[in-house]
Amino acid sequence: MNKVKEEKEFPYISNVGVGIPDKVIANEELEQIVDTSDEWITSRTGIKNRHVLKEEEDPSSLGVTASKEAISGAPADKSDIDLVITATNISDMPIPGSSPFITRELGFSDDIPFFDLKAGCSGFLYAIDVAINMIRGDGYDDVLIIGLEALSRVVNWEDRSTCVLFGDAAGAAVVSSGGTTGKVLSSSIKGDPTKAELIRLEGGGTRLPPAEGNEANGRYYLEMEGKGVFKSAVNMMKRSSLDVIEDAGIELSDVDWIVPHQANIRIIKQLAKSLDVRMDRVVVNLDEYANTSTATIPLALKEAVDEERIQSGDLVLLTAFGAGAAYGATLLEW
Ligand code: UT7
Repeated sequence: MNKVKEEKEFPYISNVGVGIPDKVIANEELEQIVDTSDEWITSRTGIKNRHVLKEEEDPSSLGVTASKEAISGAPADKSDIDLVITATNISDMPIPGSSPFITRELGFSDDIPFFDLKAGCSGFLYAIDVAINMIRGDGYDDVLIIGLEALSRVVNWEDRSTCVLFGDAAGAAVVSSGGTTGKVLSSSIKGDPTKAELIRLEGGGTRLPPAEGNEANGRYYLEMEGKGVFKSAVNMMKRSSLDVIEDAGIELSDVDWIVPHQANIRIIKQLAKSLDVRMDRVVVNLDEYANTSTATIPLALKEAVDEERIQSGDLVLLTAFGAGAAYGATLLEW
């Protein structure tokens, strides 16, 4: 548990930006590709559309768009940014990742530190946690964090149990030592490595190197044990939500909005039920974007802020789970 207690020690998430591909694939189009139906996808997941990159588009371009928007609305200037963290499950290239491409395209100086962070769909909340600790302990002031995902490039478009679930997008935010919105009251990141293989993509790593791709093609796609993930997701998001609430010394009833990782509407409803929170306090937009992994939380948070559902002073609880199994929560005062 990361107890954020003293002054400078309350960093702020000052602005959120998004990058969303123009190309949309509706459930009806998937009916032409795999043996599925709009009815099945809608009733089992809540998803209607997903946005995906075109073949010629680079995933990092989404991160660049999201970052530009995040920086343009933040109190910090681009020249103030002293660290860039890109949370992603699978980067533009295994080496050197995605961060160098994003920072180069943004025109940062040639001595800016950057790194990719891998914590499944919880990556954005892990990035917040790392950023606030870098600010508190290491003298950084303005950290650009990005959740970037292009899972359409690694799902098996012949496997109906996975290809209907995911979309591409990026979300970014500037985490600063000072600010006026998004004061981080508490942050918790955790992991359950006994569930390491629940969601996996085996190929392309050092256990199954890229050069062996032709012999093991199936293992170069994203795979998961859906039911196992479903059960763990509710428990993990509930546990980390309660952690940050207790740490901040508030009650669940004080929380104005919950912004959960957007994977499946049934997971989100079960989480709300288990926390005894009404669904009209929960931000949901997976019908339009599907599961964009590390980008779901910034996408949903920004939408609720732009639509003025989340207002100044509201207490906002972010919570996520994902591959690893990494999970976490962040409590913000907007
Ligand atoms: O960010 C983390 C990423 N992962 C997740 O969040 C996944 C969490 N899990 C889930 O969301 C759900 O488990 C799924 C949506 C993946 C699956 O829902 P389910 O209610 O657990 O369905 P199921 O796997 O038990 O499958 C029920 C049936 C099966 O057919 P049979 O064996 O009963 O004949 C599947 O083959 O539904 C079939 N099915 C489909 N049918 C039509 C699976 N995918 C589809 C599909 N269209 N797209």
